[in-house]
Amino acid sequence: MGIAISPQIHPQVADFIDKPRKMLINGKWQNAVSGKTFPTYNPATGEVLAQVAEGDRDDIDQAVRAARKAFDQGPWHRMTPSERGRLLWKLADLLEQHTEEFGYLESLDNGKPLAVAKAADVPLAVDLFRYMAGWATKIEGNTLPISVPYTPGAKYLAYTLREPVGVVGQIIPWNFPLLMAAWKLGPALATGCTVVLKPAEQTPLSALRLGELVQEAGFPDGVVNVVPGYGETAGAALAAHPDVDKIAFTGSTEVGKLIVHAAAGNLKKVSLELGGKSPNVVFKDADLDTAIPGSASAIFFNHGQCCCAGSRLYVERSVYERVIEGVAEEARKIKVGSGLEPDTQMGPLVSEEQLRRVCGYLEAGLSEGAQAVVGGQKAGSKGYFVEPTVLVNTNEKMKVVKEEIFGPVVTAMPFDNPEEILPRANDSEYGLAAAVWTRDISKAHQLAANLRAGTVWINCYNIFDAAMPFGGYKQSGWGREMGHDVLNLYTQTKAVCAKLA
Ligand code: NAI
Ligand code: MG
Repeated sequence: MGIAISPQIHPQVADFIDKPRKMLINGKWQNAVSGKTFPTYNPATGEVLAQVAEGDRDDIDQAVRAARKAFDQGPWHRMTPSERGRLLWKLADLLEQHTEEFGYLESLDNGKPLAVAKAADVPLAVDLFRYMAGWATKIEGNTLPISVPYTPGAKYLAYTLREPVGVVGQIIPWNFPLLMAAWKLGPALATGCTVVLKPAEQTPLSALRLGELVQEAGFPDGVVNVVPGYGETAGAALAAHPDVDKIAFTGSTEVGKLIVHAAAGNLKKVSLELGGKSPNVVFKDADLDTAIPGSASAIFFNHGQCCCAGSRLYVERSVYERVIEGVAEEARKIKVGSGLEPDTQMGPLVSEEQLRRVCGYLEAGLSEGAQAVVGGQKAGSKGYFVEPTVLVNTNEKMKVVKEEIFGPVVTAMPFDNPEEILPRANDSEYGLAAAVWTRDISKAHQLAANLRAGTVWINCYNIFDAAMPFGGYKQSGWGREMGHDVLNLYTQTKAVCAKLA
């Protein structure tokens, strides 16, 4: 497979990556205390894209202090909800104005197609900020009609306040670098928290550029601090920091468990958005003309690097051959290449580590008896490309069916009747998403009610909106991001009870 690597880069982006990028602490761009930098790579070529200040314990400590001060004493603390909302709206406007530039940054740093970054990642981030801007003025408590049995005749006014949780540490992954930053920052800022954000070491650039827009929008110093660095150092220091009130994490289930341990020190609040192995169920009565491309895009979107990827494809036996051949045909048509090439539909995986991990799964699957109808190996001579792959002859005991691959690899299995499919679809330690394709609305909604997943799509896949909560059952996480649900993760309730004389 020939992989075209395009040389042109957006001029502002070329400028941005030309010098080592600094970290944002207390409104200042500074080098790491250690003076160290680390490289971020272009996954289409494997070459170094930029050098970035390498945050560690000392930098995290400074950033937490800045966030603490901004929360306890800064102008942020005195701002009205309306002012907070306006700042968020301004940030959304600025981001929208720089759509092209952020598209390039995402494509270069993560590998995703430029067209996808511009059509999905950036607009979804803009929309999230606007949605959260609206919430800033609508975070309300309740008045409570209380009936205290041991103070007969006394009258009280009881009510609740919903207050920001405080200083929030946010650790995000590399699959949607800008969008994950938006999912995290949006609700934190709408509710009045302050933030130390640690982007993934593979993709720190868009969060750093977003930090510049945060300043341009006029957020006070210390409200948003961005400290790039490695997970085991900067991330671990943030998760364990005694002055952080809450940690929000998106990434692997394995690291999610480490975060929970680290958070135990000061019992900080924790929210987690972790892995998945989501079932995508196609019934024989589905509109196969939409179910087939939909099932292909369920797994191949973002090169399969989606926590909610439809990676277990279950198809009713009488249409199994047709659906598998259809999905394989979709896979063959996908144009794989550098994200900057205009006709690219699938770019490289994010890193050499992910390439090795995904190829390891492919080898394990094939050695356990799975067969690749299409794909099955690495693609191209440089960069981290993998062929879009459909594996058949698979079963629930195989590693490739049980574990999250996080690459463009779907495992397909037939089923014989609707009763059989529910336990098989739910047979996973994960529970992030699921999809059902059928024309039978009762069947669809019955399954939706019984699937153990935080999101169920019916006759569609990968539909996201700032108004729709997202998160996992089982080991896919704690809490929900987006929608009004997320506000619960960033506020705490105070009950106030006044005796009326
Ligand atoms: P990871 O979980 O190691 O990394 C995610 C974030 O956590 C990064 O910012 C990283 O620096 C940070 N981190 C790593 N170790 C940490 C620690 N000990 N303390 C605090 N923060 C830490 O994920 P990785 O290694 O990049 O990918 C491994 C697998 O994780 C993937 O193959 C995929 O299965 C899963 N994953 C899931 C994601 C999701 O959206 N739920 C996103 C990225 C990866
Ligand atoms: Mg890791």
